[in-house]
Amino acid sequence: GKSSKGYSYETLVETANFLLSRTSVRPRIGVICGSGMGSLAENITDPECIPYEEIPNFPVSTVEGHHGRLVFGKLEGVPVVAMQGRFHYYEGYPLWKCCLPVRVMKLIGVQTLIATNAAGGLNPNYKVGDLMIVRDHINMMGFAGNNPLHGPNDERFGPRFPPMNKAYNLEYRKIAKEVAKEQGIDNIVREGVYTCLGGPNFETVAELNMLKMVGVDAVGMSTVHEVIIARHCDMKVFGLSLITNECVTSYDHDSEANHEEVLDVGRMRQDTLRQYVSRLVQRFASS
Ligand code: 6GU
Repeated sequence: GKSSKGYSYETLVETANFLLSRTSVRPRIGVICGSGMGSLAENITDPECIPYEEIPNFPVSTVEGHHGRLVFGKLEGVPVVAMQGRFHYYEGYPLWKCCLPVRVMKLIGVQTLIATNAAGGLNPNYKVGDLMIVRDHINMMGFAGNNPLHGPNDERFGPRFPPMNKAYNLEYRKIAKEVAKEQGIDNIVREGVYTCLGGPNFETVAELNMLKMVGVDAVGMSTVHEVIIARHCDMKVFGLSLITNECVTSYDHDSEANHEEVLDVGRMRQDTLRQYVSRLVQRFASS
């Protein structure tokens, strides 16, 4: 049944059992495809797609640039599950509901989460089309008391007070830098700090300057809460941002952020991203 905060462990086991009955794929790695990055799942061989509408207890994704389905199959021979389309806070879901698929992944045996996103670049060295390995995050929404773990804790998922200082796996970040060199894309791969704001509006100039001041390199509307839920249940996490626009931190600047350019940059980088994430999956699986 449902409690007022989140779904019970048993409810999510139901969802997990449904998925295990629908596919014979047993993924160890889960990938969340960011906005405009759904084509990451197109490298998956023998794909088995399950629309969110068919999955018991799943919310339904509503935003352009997102399919709204799970794709089970193999990437470079490694069994994976990919989310094409994630649940965003701005759609109206509470944070715990946005993260529900991460717990379901855990319950079907996923040990490693690769969370990708489209983000605005705050670091002045970043260019549109760059990839940022997430070194760390700042949970801005958490500062205001909005946290996916808010409410009663179920020890079957994890501890009441989980540490968050090693959220983004060090070994994975090292591997990701090696793979970038091997692929010849180390000139566009950065490493930095990500933050999530609730959206749906993009930020004001003053807000972006504040974020820059506190050390944020890239800003988006996802990932942070998913990573908290994943770390709570002891999944290993890798985060990757695609920089889709330069954040405007000056009043003299004319351009405005928009969702179309976010999707355009996703399209522009889709082949590079597909190849990079496929290689990462292969290397993470054998690490
Ligand atoms: Cl500039 N801000 C936020 N919050 N999310 C974004 C973005 C900016 N660009 C892409 N996603």
